[in-house]
Amino acid sequence: MPALPALPHWEETPADLPAAVREIKAALRARITASGRSVEEVFAIVERRLAPEVAEVSAALERGEPVWPVIDYADIAAGTVSPAQIERLHRRGCLVVRGHFEREQALQWDRDIVEYVEGNRFFETYRGPGDDFFASVGSKPEIYPIYWSPAQMQARQSDRMACVQAFLNGLWKHESEGERWFDPGRDSLYPDRIRRRPEGADSGGLGTHLDPGTLDLWMTEAYQRAFRHLFDGTVEQYDPWDAAYRTGGPQYAGSTMCSVFRTFQGWTALSDMAHDQGVLHTVPIPGAMAYLLLRPLLADVPDDDMCGVTVNQAFPAGEKWHPLLMEALAGIPDVQAGDSVWWHCDMIHSVAPVTDQQGWGNVMYIPAAPWCPRNERYAPSVLEAFRTGSSPSDFPAEDYERTWPDRFRIEDLNVTGRRGLGLLAV
Ligand SMILES: [Fe+2]
Repeated sequence: MPALPALPHWEETPADLPAAVREIKAALRARITASGRSVEEVFAIVERRLAPEVAEVSAALERGEPVWPVIDYADIAAGTVSPAQIERLHRRGCLVVRGHFEREQALQWDRDIVEYVEGNRFFETYRGPGDDFFASVGSKPEIYPIYWSPAQMQARQSDRMACVQAFLNGLWKHESEGERWFDPGRDSLYPDRIRRRPEGADSGGLGTHLDPGTLDLWMTEAYQRAFRHLFDGTVEQYDPWDAAYRTGGPQYAGSTMCSVFRTFQGWTALSDMAHDQGVLHTVPIPGAMAYLLLRPLLADVPDDDMCGVTVNQAFPAGEKWHPLLMEALAGIPDVQAGDSVWWHCDMIHSVAPVTDQQGWGNVMYIPAAPWCPRNERYAPSVLEAFRTGSSPSDFPAEDYERTWPDRFRIEDLNVTGRRGLGLLAV
């Protein structure tokens, strides 16, 4: 292959965004063209490869068949997940783990959280949303900016969580290009929030978007290398499960950022939720990332536009630029308290709207974020937030828990918790 022109890169948010977008788009087009294929040709290949997958999902949806793979926790724990199930996980990129925790345990955690926030007068002191990403209606929040309850920490450091995280991390190629990119058996403890949506709630949901980054996905050197096959004419070799170059680089700062590399995003259900009560949906096709990253390079998108992607806002996906993908938007099945739900970190997802919700909709957000240089860099700030009861630095500095006496204590950490926070080196 001829030597391809190098790409300009910005390791921090460019000062002049439209100029940087114009520059990177021209450079990406030039690089792809120098490979001997046009951008249109490369994008057509991606479309041709994705179309049958989209058709398969939308046909299953039409027939009312389940789209999301479901695996019993007992099979993950016993190592008896079949090769056919693994193959399906790779194809769909998402999973419900049935019985990840005992139902009674999850319901107890839910009660414990209520006691924790009420006992500390959270609702009386709540100052409103600290960001507008999950803009809340009314004064009582659905998303609780609470990170350090005993319930959350017990779940995060539990053997059952570690077992599922290791299984999910293991679906990724963590050794490639002559390097070991992460340790699948050790997770970094990534503190996130809680959602408790009450019975009778009306919610507009959350639009289709993705979370791994924004303009940095095209603009940082690490992401350019991670997505190298999309930008050098070898799109057939692009593997959404290859962690190469994903575990070291920066993400542009913003109020919706995630400093760590997550193999999967996830949450654990703390209430039963029916599939038609405003639940999570995904486009269950990990390889759709190729479409999302190449689409802005086509001629019908203005030169200073990345199909609406900009910094400090979730990466939007939608009908305007990604109509093919939207046909495959598929919701989770009914879940019970104690089940957990997972999706590949690059996948498009949304939360459906609901009116007069039946039952509660309560979850703890706990992802799979394996130990790697990027996550190791974030760990000291997590530890500091834990020690002081502060909000982690990826989130608005709301700091409700600093004075709460019954938050989880450092002496209650087990080995998994200590490893996850970087207090134990192995
Ligand atoms: Fe998201």
